[in-house]
Amino acid sequence: AIDANFEQNREVHEEENEHGVTVWGPVDPPEQLGIHGTHVAVDFDICLADGACLEDCPVDVFEWVDTPGHPESEIKAEPAHEEQCIDCMLCVDVCPVDAIDVDSG
Ligand code: SF4
Ligand code: F3S
Repeated sequence: AIDANFEQNREVHEEENEHGVTVWGPVDPPEQLGIHGTHVAVDFDICLADGACLEDCPVDVFEWVDTPGHPESEIKAEPAHEEQCIDCMLCVDVCPVDAIDVDSG
Protein backbone atom coordinates (compact mmCIF):
# COMPACT_ATOMS: atom_id res chain seq x y z
CA ALA A 1 0.00 0.00 0.00
CA ILE A 2 1.00 3.63 -0.44
CA ASP A 3 2.93 5.11 2.50
CA ALA A 4 0.53 7.65 4.05
CA ASN A 5 3.56 9.43 5.54
CA PHE A 6 5.27 9.88 2.20
CA GLU A 7 5.63 13.63 2.72
CA GLN A 8 7.95 12.89 5.67
CA ASN A 9 9.62 9.81 4.20
CA ARG A 10 10.28 10.95 0.62
CA GLU A 11 11.74 13.95 -1.12
CA VAL A 12 10.25 15.96 -3.95
CA HIS A 13 11.69 14.79 -7.24
CA GLU A 14 9.85 17.32 -9.40
CA GLU A 15 7.66 20.24 -8.26
CA GLU A 16 5.44 20.17 -11.34
CA ASN A 17 5.49 17.54 -14.02
CA GLU A 18 3.87 18.02 -17.44
CA HIS A 19 0.45 17.60 -15.81
CA GLY A 20 1.18 20.10 -13.04
CA VAL A 21 1.58 17.30 -10.49
CA THR A 22 4.31 17.09 -7.83
CA VAL A 23 6.36 13.87 -8.01
CA TRP A 24 7.89 12.36 -4.85
CA GLY A 25 10.96 10.18 -5.39
CA PRO A 26 12.83 8.02 -5.68
CA VAL A 27 12.36 8.02 -9.45
CA ASP A 28 14.31 5.84 -11.89
CA PRO A 29 12.27 5.37 -15.06
CA PRO A 30 10.88 3.30 -16.54
CA GLU A 31 10.77 0.88 -13.58
CA GLN A 32 10.48 3.34 -10.68
CA LEU A 33 8.10 6.30 -11.00
CA GLY A 34 7.49 7.46 -7.44
CA ILE A 35 4.35 8.96 -5.89
CA HIS A 36 2.37 11.46 -7.97
CA GLY A 37 0.36 14.19 -6.28
CA THR A 38 0.21 15.52 -2.73
CA HIS A 39 -3.39 16.05 -1.59
CA VAL A 40 -4.45 13.19 -3.86
CA ALA A 41 -1.41 10.92 -4.09
CA VAL A 42 -1.04 7.87 -6.32
CA ASP A 43 1.89 5.50 -5.88
CA PHE A 44 2.74 4.84 -9.51
CA ASP A 45 4.90 1.89 -8.49
CA ILE A 46 1.82 0.15 -6.99
CA CYS A 47 -0.91 1.26 -9.45
CA LEU A 48 -1.74 -1.55 -11.88
CA ALA A 49 -4.23 0.42 -13.97
CA ASP A 50 -7.40 -1.02 -12.45
CA GLY A 51 -9.27 2.15 -13.45
CA ALA A 52 -11.82 2.22 -10.63
CA CYS A 53 -10.53 5.57 -9.44
CA LEU A 54 -11.09 7.15 -12.86
CA GLU A 55 -14.57 5.64 -13.13
CA ASP A 56 -15.73 6.53 -9.63
CA CYS A 57 -14.24 9.97 -8.92
CA PRO A 58 -17.23 12.35 -9.04
CA VAL A 59 -15.09 15.33 -10.05
CA ASP A 60 -12.71 13.67 -12.56
CA VAL A 61 -9.47 14.21 -10.70
CA PHE A 62 -7.63 11.43 -12.58
CA GLU A 63 -6.33 11.12 -16.13
CA TRP A 64 -4.61 8.16 -17.76
CA VAL A 65 -0.97 8.71 -18.57
CA ASP A 66 1.37 6.37 -20.46
CA THR A 67 4.14 4.65 -18.52
CA PRO A 68 5.73 2.28 -21.02
CA GLY A 69 8.10 -0.24 -19.49
CA HIS A 70 6.77 -0.07 -15.94
CA PRO A 71 6.52 -3.61 -14.51
CA GLU A 72 3.02 -3.19 -12.97
CA SER A 73 1.21 -1.47 -15.87
CA GLU A 74 1.90 0.72 -18.88
CA ILE A 75 -0.75 3.32 -17.99
CA LYS A 76 -1.29 5.03 -14.63
CA ALA A 77 -3.92 7.24 -12.97
CA GLU A 78 -2.41 10.72 -12.77
CA PRO A 79 -4.15 12.99 -10.20
CA ALA A 80 -3.98 15.81 -12.74
CA HIS A 81 -6.86 17.78 -11.19
CA GLU A 82 -6.26 17.10 -7.50
CA GLU A 83 -7.29 20.67 -6.64
CA GLN A 84 -10.87 19.67 -7.57
CA CYS A 85 -10.96 16.86 -4.97
CA ILE A 86 -13.93 16.97 -2.57
CA ASP A 87 -12.47 14.38 -0.14
CA CYS A 88 -15.20 11.82 -0.74
CA MET A 89 -12.57 9.04 -0.32
CA LEU A 90 -14.19 6.85 -2.99
CA CYS A 91 -10.93 6.38 -4.87
CA VAL A 92 -9.15 5.28 -1.70
CA ASP A 93 -11.88 2.73 -1.03
CA VAL A 94 -12.09 1.26 -4.54
CA CYS A 95 -8.43 0.92 -5.48
CA PRO A 96 -7.73 -2.84 -5.24
CA VAL A 97 -4.06 -2.34 -4.40
CA ASP A 98 -4.34 0.67 -2.05
CA ALA A 99 -2.24 2.84 -4.32
CA ILE A 100 -4.06 6.08 -3.40
CA ASP A 101 -3.81 8.34 -0.33
CA VAL A 102 -6.10 11.34 0.12
CA ASP A 103 -5.08 13.72 2.87
CA SER A 104 -8.51 14.75 4.10
CA GLY A 105 -7.24 15.97 7.46
FE1 SF4 B 1 -12.05 12.03 -6.45
FE2 SF4 B 1 -13.17 11.56 -4.09
FE3 SF4 B 1 -10.77 10.56 -4.66
FE4 SF4 B 1 -11.03 13.16 -4.25
S1 SF4 B 1 -11.37 11.54 -2.72
S2 SF4 B 1 -9.87 12.19 -5.90
S3 SF4 B 1 -13.06 13.55 -5.11
S4 SF4 B 1 -12.71 10.02 -5.67
FE1 F3S C 1 -4.40 2.51 -10.30
FE2 F3S C 1 -5.82 1.92 -8.20
FE3 F3S C 1 -6.67 3.74 -9.88
S1 F3S C 1 -4.71 0.49 -9.46
S2 F3S C 1 -5.88 3.10 -11.84
S3 F3S C 1 -4.84 3.87 -8.63
S4 F3S C 1 -7.94 2.23 -8.84
